[in-house]
Amino acid sequence: MGISAFNPTRFPGSISGLLQVASLLALLLLLFKAAQLYLHRQWLLKAVQQFPCPPSHWLFGHKQEFQKDQELQQMLKWAEKFPSACPRWFRGNKLTVLIYNPDYMKVILGRSDPKAHDIYKLVSPWIGYGLLLLNGPTWFQHRRMLTPAFHYDILKPYVAVVANSVQVMLDRWEQLISEDSPLEIFQHVSLMTLDSIMKCAFSHKSSAQSDRNSHSYLQAIADLKDLIFYRIRSIIHQNDIIYSLSSNGQLFKQACKLAHEHTDQVIKQRKSQLQNETELEKIKRTRHLDFLDILLFAKMEDGNSFSNKDLRAEVDTFMFEGHDTTASGISWILYALAAHPDHQQRCREEVQSILGDEASITWEHLDQMSYMTMCIKEAMRIYPPVPSVSRELSKPVTFPDGRSLPKGIIVSLSIYTLHHNPKVWPNPEVFDPFRFAVDSTRHSHSFLPFSGGSRNCIGKQFAMNEMKVAVALTLLRFELLPDPTRTPLPVPRLVLKSKNGIYLYLRKLK
Ligand code: HEM
Repeated sequence: MGISAFNPTRFPGSISGLLQVASLLALLLLLFKAAQLYLHRQWLLKAVQQFPCPPSHWLFGHKQEFQKDQELQQMLKWAEKFPSACPRWFRGNKLTVLIYNPDYMKVILGRSDPKAHDIYKLVSPWIGYGLLLLNGPTWFQHRRMLTPAFHYDILKPYVAVVANSVQVMLDRWEQLISEDSPLEIFQHVSLMTLDSIMKCAFSHKSSAQSDRNSHSYLQAIADLKDLIFYRIRSIIHQNDIIYSLSSNGQLFKQACKLAHEHTDQVIKQRKSQLQNETELEKIKRTRHLDFLDILLFAKMEDGNSFSNKDLRAEVDTFMFEGHDTTASGISWILYALAAHPDHQQRCREEVQSILGDEASITWEHLDQMSYMTMCIKEAMRIYPPVPSVSRELSKPVTFPDGRSLPKGIIVSLSIYTLHHNPKVWPNPEVFDPFRFAVDSTRHSHSFLPFSGGSRNCIGKQFAMNEMKVAVALTLLRFELLPDPTRTPLPVPRLVLKSKNGIYLYLRKLK
């Protein structure tokens, strides 16, 4: 008769025996894991040995060095001491090599390394694998398919649409301003850019600026960016299960749900409008296909359409990238002009001389605003809306100074540090639009607000137009003054925002 080894009444000693075996196995596993971690750390240390950095704690990395919300400032201090690049240890074995030298940037952006999975995967439950996060052939296929949505013919009529959204915002500012209290502009500008992208890319009819859902979408986006920022820096929240059980994980889930409800509604509405191909023909006759039409009617080379999942990812990606980056850009530009009244006045005079008494602003006007464009670029140098982007090296790299990094290392291209690097931009904190005068010379990779290479920003032209329209129309209506008691503190939250908001005094011009 067979006797079960698990029968506790017959073999009282066997339970403790099993426990002993289990403990031994657990211990061996632990030792194995510790050895693995140790060896990986040794490998990492060797990999970055040519790149000195401040001493770091074996578990907490450089956490001590980076005081809360002083990251950007700290990186500038490092850049002074450690030229071109410097490893930053996040925790244990988590390491990225920060780079801020134009020659280094050129090398990395000239390759086709994938986006750093460890970092971008934390964003994926929200924006999915759309153009921003995709890699390889699928990215290429999507990029090729979506590029026509940013063709000159499509962008041209958007100038009037954006101008309309800007006027709505400025009308509201007229009602809100008073002599003695400044206005926090970031919120208002975000609503305006959300309104613009919804009207341009998604041909949405109603105004996002007066819609309550837009407010909750924006709040969800703000929460998601904060939560992702803190998760990247947390030791315990790396594990998906632990994170999903934590209060932050719950908040993240809720905010994703809210953001998706917003984009789902946009897709649903359009799908019901475009029930058949005849409808598409009608649209083609009356206007160019917008971004969402292209997504809905696109056929891949294999004849298949975008799956619902891919469609949703692209809509989530463009809804976010299409409004939050430009909101950051416009808000910081207005702040920079408020802080530099001479440049502000010169821009205003230029806009007045171009627009004269004309009621509307057009595509042709934008190219003539050369001084304002220089100011916009200078503001984007000091306050780049996207402060950094990351890549995971798919093969070893050797930089022009002979130093190299092996495959597998994550590099963070710190656009903010590059733009503030005194070796690249003398007196980097001085606002000097003439750095961008037509006859000025500079390194091809010293100014990268829209990144560079094949993964550069697909919405660059749309964004530049939107920023010009917003700044020009604002300057025609208001004089901008900074609030000396609340100097904005730039902090990286996927895009550059201000820790304490961006407060300006607005004076209505006669
Ligand atoms: C001032 C405004 C903007 C700035 C500074 C900006 C900056 C950037 C940067 C730095 C990247 C590279 C990201 C990376 O490598 O991880 C990027 C990519 C991207 N941007 Fe923008 N962006 C702006 C506006 C826009 C707008 C208005 C849209 C859409 C309408 C847009 C859509 C995208 C998309 C889809 C990508 C991914 C492109 C790809 O990988 O093929 N961006 N942007």
